[in-house]
Order: sequence, then C-alpha cells, then structure tokens
Amino acid sequence: MSTAPEIVAIDPILPDPALIARAAAVIRAGGLVGMPTETVYGLAANALDPASIARIYAAKGRPSHNPLIAHVADAHSARQLAAEWPIMAQALAERFWPGPLTLVVRRKAMVPAVLSAGLDTFGIRVPNHPVALALIRACGFPLAAPSANKFTEVSPVTAQQVARGLGAAVDLILDAGRTTVGIESTVVDVSSATPVILRPGMISRESIEAIVGPTGRASTPIRMDAARPAPGMIARHYAPRAHVRLLPVLDMPAAIAEAEALVKSGTATGLLLCTLHLPRDTVFTFSSRLGDDPDLYAAGLYDALHMADEYHCDELFVEEPPATPEWDAIRDRLKRAAHPA
Ligand code: TXA
Ligand code: MG
Repeated sequence: MSTAPEIVAIDPILPDPALIARAAAVIRAGGLVGMPTETVYGLAANALDPASIARIYAAKGRPSHNPLIAHVADAHSARQLAAEWPIMAQALAERFWPGPLTLVVRRKAMVPAVLSAGLDTFGIRVPNHPVALALIRACGFPLAAPSANKFTEVSPVTAQQVARGLGAAVDLILDAGRTTVGIESTVVDVSSATPVILRPGMISRESIEAIVGPTGRASTPIRMDAARPAPGMIARHYAPRAHVRLLPVLDMPAAIAEAEALVKSGTATGLLLCTLHLPRDTVFTFSSRLGDDPDLYAAGLYDALHMADEYHCDELFVEEPPATPEWDAIRDRLKRAAHPA
C-alpha cells in the first residue's frame, strides 16, 4: 500500500486542461482529489454519489452527522439542486459568488441525504478559484468538498499540508500554491425566514447584513457527539497539536517571558503575534508575526499553525487580535484552536 498521495503542480490562474481532465477522471471513478479553493484546500468527490461521500467521511475520520458542502460553478447550478431558492439566497449569491460564502438551503431529493448528514438542508458555494471551477466544469456534477484535513485538525492551505494530514487516503492533489483567503468560508443559513451565520468567515456579518438585513443568533455550541445542524460550531476544531494559549495583548510581556523560560527548560514553545513585535535576542521554537491587517493575518494563520506542528511545538502562545468586527472570524478560529481537548 502506498503511503504518499501524488501531488501535481497546476497553474492557479490558467490550469492545464490535461491535468484537470486527469483529476476529473479520478473523481468520476469514485476517488478523492485534493482541490485548491480560495479559502482552504478541499477534499473533493462526486457530491451526487453516496459511495464517494462515504469515502470522504472515512478519509477525514469525520462523524457522519457532520454535513459536507457542495461546490458548483455558478448560482444557476446551485438553484437546480435547491428545493427552495429564497430571495435572500439569490441576493447573497449575486453579491458574493464566486467567493468565500456557503449558503445553507433546502435540498432536492437528487442531493443525497448522506451529503448533509440526513438534514433536509445542505450547504453550497461557488468557489473563487480557477482550478476548482475548471474541475467542477470538467466533472459536470457538483463536488462535495470539506476542508482536506482530519476531523478537528487545522485546515490545509497548501498541497503539502493536505498530503501530510491525509496521506494515501487522498488519490491525487492539485498543487496550486498557498490559498489566498486562508480560512474557511462564511456559512449562512437562509433556509428559514431569519438568516443565521453558522460559521463566521472573512465575508463579515456586517457585509451579509447589508444585503439581507439583521441576522439571527445561531443555537448554542454543540457537543462533539450531538447530531446537530452546525458542526462548524464544535468547540474544539481547527486545533494544532500544541497546547494553545490565547492571551490579551496586555498579558503578552509576561507570556513571552514564560515562553522563553519554557524554551530554556527544553519545552518546544512557539509564539504567534499580531501587532506586537518579536522581542530581540530571544529564540523560540517557532515564531511568527502576522500583523494588524485582518486579511493578511487570515491568509497566514493556518500556515503558522501547521508550522507550529512541524516544529513539534508543545506550547503555543498567541496574542489575541483586536476585539473589532473585522477580526471576528479570526478570533473564532483562535478560540477553537485554544479550546481544551
Ligand atoms: O471554505 C470552505 O467552506 C471550505 C472549502 C474547501 O470550500 N470547505 C469547508 O467545508 O470548510 P467543511 O465541511 O470543513 O465545513 C463546512 C461547514 C461545516 O461547519 C458544516 O457543519 C456546515 O458547513 N454545514 C454544511 N451543511 C450544513 C447544513 N445543512 N446545515 C448547517 N451547517 C452545515
Ligand atoms: Mg473543516
């Protein structure tokens, strides 16, 4: 049995049709392809084929009550899979697709129940990535694609991270370089009268509400074993192997001193900074400063968390980003990464 999946380099802007055809053949045969999107790499398979969907769940080690999302090439294709296409869905699709927004709508019977874990709604989006769009078009059917990581681990933003995380469980990985948005899409449930943001993303609550008006509150966070419609809300998720400590900026000087002491005592310790600058003359197992621009921070966040893993950090001290709306999705991911197992 092979242990390493095949990774092929593909131009992110003008993907080679021969490589796309190869990847489409893998998916048509029931296989799994590591697919770049603008957010994170997805683990793509035929969304209309229950056996392919079962392979995704197995590869991720994901509980079968955690729904997957479908990826299509345009809003028209999305409508064809939806039992209802509310005005809100149309308005959001027109404003944000292709882009990092997933809409939860009611599904037609042709969408297998296993795709959405038996719910009568399902998630769907049009990714803003030439490789993903070309692959969807070459297949001619929607692609189910959760983030291409093991359940609860950090989503991959490079092809190499997909390979390290999933190994031979994925048949082929299209390597289009690092993704640009860097964290998963905003998930908005538009299946009932009041829209609800189920997972924050870089399309902010404010910009969603500018289109559809006030959004409702999502139901309370759920337990890992509970069958619930919004497992993006599972508390421990997006977590590196290190113990993550998320600290207000005022606590960072003391934390940095503690981190230094840990390194000296032989504990692999990393530092993830936002606005603070790295102290001089100190050496950490891993350190990164992602800066005060939320878009750039998001683009670098998962790469940094994967790096902390590669350096085998046991402890990771993270400076909490500002408590303003444009940082909501980032603070959400950091809180989940810091949640005790
Ligand atoms: O950016 C993204 O959305 C990436 C890329 C690959 O497209 N995909 C992704 O998929 O993050 P996944 O499966 O890791 O996350 C999908 C989220 C989960 O939180 C899931 O619970 C939620 O969408 N979701 C899917 N269908 C749903 C439904 N019918 N009701 C409520 N939540 C749903
Ligand atoms: Mg995921």
